[in-house]
Amino acid sequence: MGSEHKKRVLSGMQASGLLHLGNYHGALANWVKLQDEYECFFFIADWHALTTLYNEPAKIREYTRAVAIDFLACGLDPERSTIFVQSDVLQHAELNILLSMITPIPWLERVPSYKDKKDELEHLDLSSFGFLGYPVLQAADIAIYEAAFVPVGEDQLPHLELTREIVRRFNHLYSQTLPEPKEIVTPTPVLPGLDGKKMSKSYGNAVYLSDDDESVRKKFMSAITDPQRQRRNDPGRPEVCNIHAYHKIYSSKERLGEIQQACRTAEIGCVDCKKELIEKFFVNFADIRKLRRQIENDQAYIDQVLSQGAEHARQAAEKTMTKVRKAMQLR
Ligand code: TRP
Ligand code: SF4
Repeated sequence: MGSEHKKRVLSGMQASGLLHLGNYHGALANWVKLQDEYECFFFIADWHALTTLYNEPAKIREYTRAVAIDFLACGLDPERSTIFVQSDVLQHAELNILLSMITPIPWLERVPSYKDKKDELEHLDLSSFGFLGYPVLQAADIAIYEAAFVPVGEDQLPHLELTREIVRRFNHLYSQTLPEPKEIVTPTPVLPGLDGKKMSKSYGNAVYLSDDDESVRKKFMSAITDPQRQRRNDPGRPEVCNIHAYHKIYSSKERLGEIQQACRTAEIGCVDCKKELIEKFFVNFADIRKLRRQIENDQAYIDQVLSQGAEHARQAAEKTMTKVRKAMQLR
């Protein structure tokens, strides 16, 4: 089917780390499905990564490549979707500067992630203009493709709300009709990390798509289960256990019921329960992990996908920019 009739979806991920299971279940798996129904643009936000990792550009470069491989291995399909790197499409920067002219600083200061991230990353100096302006750049990313929908996790909703406010102000000031994007909130509940906190690269509690077998085993084996289950014969509580949260995703309904029962009666021990999960994880991710290893060794393919994606993205972005420049009476 021609893409002309499909509504446009856009989303991005920061190149500030390797992708982990939280990213997969919380975003990527959903993006893969959206490709059937929408004209999709998916990109790697390397400029956004610079707002915090400005002193480690080599890392961002490495993560950009790794995230591209993760995207492709998980099933983002360059035949159907436009897959690209943000900094390959300079139009994002142009729209960013134009939108920054009409965005009041107090709007940015009250975005929750601004203060939260500053507190969380207190070892970094985040007093920069660019860090405050993070959501303006995100608004530019979205508006430049006139995207109808943006699939995001709950944590991104304030950014999307701000994007709509900026777009509304733009339309009002320059008599334009850029669409106000709507969110598609990812249905999956937040996956716990191995320690029970939210899975996050900054907590060191994540299983990465790029982890080898050995690290996957080690990580799951050392995960925290029910803290009250000290001895093998103590009954367990699946509802507070992190391993159980994964069984919910990777085990059949039937087997899940059995595990719950066996846990409560101490029939099954945590070691066996973990081993079972690990084997299921390997089965579930066999194709993705195999494809990942193949793509990783095919730099020419990665380069080709990203340059073709950038080319297509530039064309779409330039279309919008032509309208925007005209609306703002720029030459
Ligand atoms: N802020 C998003 C995140 O941290 C990444 C992002 C940048 C994004 N630009 C975007 C997401 C545009 C959706 C649309 O996950
Ligand atoms: Fe968790 Fe399984 Fe141990 Fe029960 S038996 S506490 S579900 S790891």
